[in-house]
Amino acid sequence: PRRIIIDTDPGVDDALAILLALGCPELQVEALSIAMGNGKDIRALGSNAKLLLRLANAETVPVSLGAQPEGDVSEGATVKRRGMKEQLVHGADHMGNVGVKYGKRDADYSGFHQLPAPELIYDVCKRHPGEVTLVCIASLHNVASALQEHPDLPELVREVVIMGGAFGERRGNRTPSAEANFFDGPEAAQAVLTAGFRRVVLAGLDITHQTDMLPLRKACKESSLPLSQFIWDLCENFITVYHDWGETLAPAHDAVPIMYLVHPDLFEGEEVRVEVETAGVITKGMSIADWKGQWGKPPNCLLLRQIRDQPAFYRAFVGAMQRLPRP
Ligand code: BDR
Ligand code: CA
Repeated sequence: PRRIIIDTDPGVDDALAILLALGCPELQVEALSIAMGNGKDIRALGSNAKLLLRLANAETVPVSLGAQPEGDVSEGATVKRRGMKEQLVHGADHMGNVGVKYGKRDADYSGFHQLPAPELIYDVCKRHPGEVTLVCIASLHNVASALQEHPDLPELVREVVIMGGAFGERRGNRTPSAEANFFDGPEAAQAVLTAGFRRVVLAGLDITHQTDMLPLRKACKESSLPLSQFIWDLCENFITVYHDWGETLAPAHDAVPIMYLVHPDLFEGEEVRVEVETAGVITKGMSIADWKGQWGKPPNCLLLRQIRDQPAFYRAFVGAMQRLPRP
């Protein structure tokens, strides 16, 4: 199996991504590294990761924490839209408000790996040169810090697959111009995209919005899987918030890069140069694809554009969930 590290901020759609990865025999999850994003309290996000590992009987996977952002710890990623109050997309516990129901332990803040996330990332890559794929589904601070400390990281890594950015009519979700993972760390995103990794794959909002949690969780329920009820409940708040916003669907963002790794045939993409705005006032974190090569720089990623077969995506997700042991 392909060795992966999932750099994550669990997170409702992160939870789907992590469970998907754990249910794929093609993947071997070496570690979960935790970055800020959906929440700012890094230990609370880490305890969500541990809950997911318990539910999937995979508690041997190490969980390592990234740096705690300075300043006040906010409840989590909130988004405000015209005429609406600010809403917590992932719930107050970043697990759709169902963490405790499924065994999340209060202040479960111990048992993390002794190495901080950037060091664990480097350590695993160093032990398996050329074999590890980094799946980045949160702000990119951990990989950016690892790069800063260890400039040889790009030579050691097989591939980096990122959920971040937006390239179509929809320019952002956290702001009108920026997607959340890039907005939370524009310099970090820019550093990772331009570091010279041998292969980078990028899944932005325009492709993640080709998935929908509604059919996904329905398919899980109909197959009565070990975690059907958890997945159903987990998605409820996220779906409600997206529908309140007037969106027609609730994207399973972070499941996309994992699905790409096991079923690349389901995706169409294009090689292009992508960079991230770090200096903008109203465009902080904005992602730009240089389609016409006007910067004169070589492409630095495969940008995913299209999911060829959505029902096949959901079937593959259910198949992976069928392989998870009962908790
Ligand atoms: C990304 O932001 C987070 O809220 C999601 O988990 C996903 O990684 C989508 O913009
Ligand atoms: Ca995420």
